[in-house]
Amino acid sequence: MQIVHSTAELDCVLAARRNAGESTALVPTMGNLHAGHVSLIRRAQQLAPCVVVSVFVNPLQFGPHDDFDRYPRTLDADAKLIAAEGAAVLFAPSISDMYPGGYPPATSVQIDGPLNAVLEGEFRPGHFAGVATVVNILLNRVQPAVAIFGQKDYQQLAVIRRMVADLGMPVRIEAGATLRDIDGLALSSRNQYLQAQERALAPRIYIEMQKIAAGLRAGSRDFETLCAEPRSQLQALGFRPQYLEVRAADLSVPAASLKQFVILAAAHLGSTRLIDNLIVDCE
Ligand code: PAF
Repeated sequence: MQIVHSTAELDCVLAARRNAGESTALVPTMGNLHAGHVSLIRRAQQLAPCVVVSVFVNPLQFGPHDDFDRYPRTLDADAKLIAAEGAAVLFAPSISDMYPGGYPPATSVQIDGPLNAVLEGEFRPGHFAGVATVVNILLNRVQPAVAIFGQKDYQQLAVIRRMVADLGMPVRIEAGATLRDIDGLALSSRNQYLQAQERALAPRIYIEMQKIAAGLRAGSRDFETLCAEPRSQLQALGFRPQYLEVRAADLSVPAASLKQFVILAAAHLGSTRLIDNLIVDCE
């Protein structure tokens, strides 16, 4: 595996691969890799011979009260893991390499409409513009045939798909399934912020989402009532839920006639913000 820190090095490595006729799959990450990322890297390997994993904690997608400073940075361990998985390239740029025109960049990707107004978009203003901008830069730099993103960030995936469609970007976007711990907690680098007691409680989000899913499968379409009790349960346990909602697959307000739904949740537990989602097929 080649570790590259600058765009110039990246261009060199990728040009050689392209000349050898290899297509590229990109796995964008913020590092601190876990089994969820490994599954994305393995999926990438099925899709293209040259797998590039980027590791960059992108300041542009963090709000002023978010966890940018304490976000875990574990590049040495990440490099070992990525090498062991057989990826071709680890791209770990600095802020000035990622934003060569200066930080913050004067040019960014703006996300309009309901996709950016609801759920994460409502509670993290500016977040998706930051994500879309850095993903745009990464896609320009790496020019992959395919890029893989985890389904755990359901709305992020929707925003990226929409950007790629709106801007006519020549890349295929693939989703990687959410990986869960044995007790149901979705794997996330942020789980390590949880104190032991909080870690024991954290899977309740998934349990409450499953109750809503069971209601949907049983035919209930009173979405608000379905979510009210699980939301109170989480509150009673000490979570501070920001949203727990049923939506259509495209994140619009669901019609009762739909057969596919997605349940989305975000809640603070102590100093940790957890998000999760569950796709429910009632076919
Ligand atoms: O999902 C993430 O880790 C980040 O939002 C991403 C896509 C790597 C962009 O910084």
